[in-house]
Amino acid sequence: MSGNRKDKRDHYYWEAKKKGYRSRAAFKLLQMNRTFKLIKSGDLVLDLGSSPGGWSQIAVEIGATVVAVDINPMPPIEGVKFIQGDITSPETLERIREISEAYDAVISDASPKITGKWTIDHLRSIDLARASFNIAKEVLKPGGSFLVKIFQGEEIGKLFNEFKPYFRFKKFHSPKASRKRSSEVYFIGKGFRRAHSQ
Ligand SMILES: C[S@@+](CC[C@H](N)C(=O)[O-])C[C@H]1O[C@@H](n2cnc3c(N)ncnc32)[C@H](O)[C@@H]1O
Repeated sequence: MSGNRKDKRDHYYWEAKKKGYRSRAAFKLLQMNRTFKLIKSGDLVLDLGSSPGGWSQIAVEIGATVVAVDINPMPPIEGVKFIQGDITSPETLERIREISEAYDAVISDASPKITGKWTIDHLRSIDLARASFNIAKEVLKPGGSFLVKIFQGEEIGKLFNEFKPYFRFKKFHSPKASRKRSSEVYFIGKGFRRAHSQ
């Protein structure tokens, strides 16, 4: 994480504390779900790069059941099954599939450790976004939703072209709760289809 402690104590930091959310990122999912209706009550949601658990908390609040995955531990949340594993490893996909073969939504806020070197951070983020998509392709139900964070940079157009044939609706979005100077954007894909047709 970059920035000093003082920088982190913005509006969303205090709001998260007040509402008992584990991350300010929780508000990004709340805002995006209000606009794009990615998760609904009764859904089975796969949350990739889930720790400390803010997005999982929001998905549970919406009424979803959650399978959460992170390379780091995550304290338990009721309604959430947690897998500690690396999303780039095939073994993690196997463990996800052991719980269920089909998910209504795959959401990924996975981020590399920030080096401060724009190109390195961008390329590592692209790798994580692609790993998230490779999992989504295997487990998303037809018609399902996909949400993934990407740090902007020159590879983003190429990634969008890889993703876009798989979704009826697709776009990049920057939620209000993202920090102003952040380079992050979210790819939103709805209406998943396995066919490679445009
Ligand atoms: C910004 S945090 C996610 C915050 C979360 N959405 C929340 O609201 O609490 C990014 C997470 O991605 C995880 N991550 C990074 N690389 C990963 C990998 N290869 N496999 C699984 N998780 C990874 C990190 O451990 C970190 O917890």
